[in-house]
Amino acid sequence: MLKTSDILDEKDKRLRKVSQEVVFPLSKEDRKTIQQMVEYLTNSQIEEKAEKYDLRPGMGMAAIQLGIPKRYITIVNETSHDEKTGKSTFETFIIINPKIVSHSEEMIYVELGEGCLSVNREVIGIVPRYARCTIEGYDMDGNKIQIRGREEVSIAFQHEIDHLNGILFIDKIDPKNPFKNQDKYRAI
Ligand code: NI
Repeated sequence: MLKTSDILDEKDKRLRKVSQEVVFPLSKEDRKTIQQMVEYLTNSQIEEKAEKYDLRPGMGMAAIQLGIPKRYITIVNETSHDEKTGKSTFETFIIINPKIVSHSEEMIYVELGEGCLSVNREVIGIVPRYARCTIEGYDMDGNKIQIRGREEVSIAFQHEIDHLNGILFIDKIDPKNPFKNQDKYRAI
């Protein structure tokens, strides 16, 4: 089981590496890592588990955040939450060698500020992202897949693919003017 301390911090230079394309078949180790990433992200969004295991909530992770310079990402998105039972349902995306193949013109940003498991502080400012995008890549068995993301899932795809290129969301905010061009983008 992954611990929060397994995730590299923003100061770690490994996060700046450009990750390498994965060659199939996927190794047993990579398969296990992917399962652990999904498990971490899911548990981190379930309050009692997050507390029990001291997990920081997050919906996306790239392998490089564990120091593994390979091009794969995982996203776990909460699709519903039952207030009565406290139970959530999630959709999970595992994409190997992901690429954005098309995107909307419309740009959006997270109003409360984007977050990252490697950035353990609040950072204010606008990170413009495509409102919708389609990515292509491969599943764990090497089958080609195409997924369309909207709103927060679209942002997560772009955020995680940035990680594979050594880019953090904080790089995209102008510290002198963090809300630059705000009216050009839609807040979500
Ligand atoms: Ni991140």
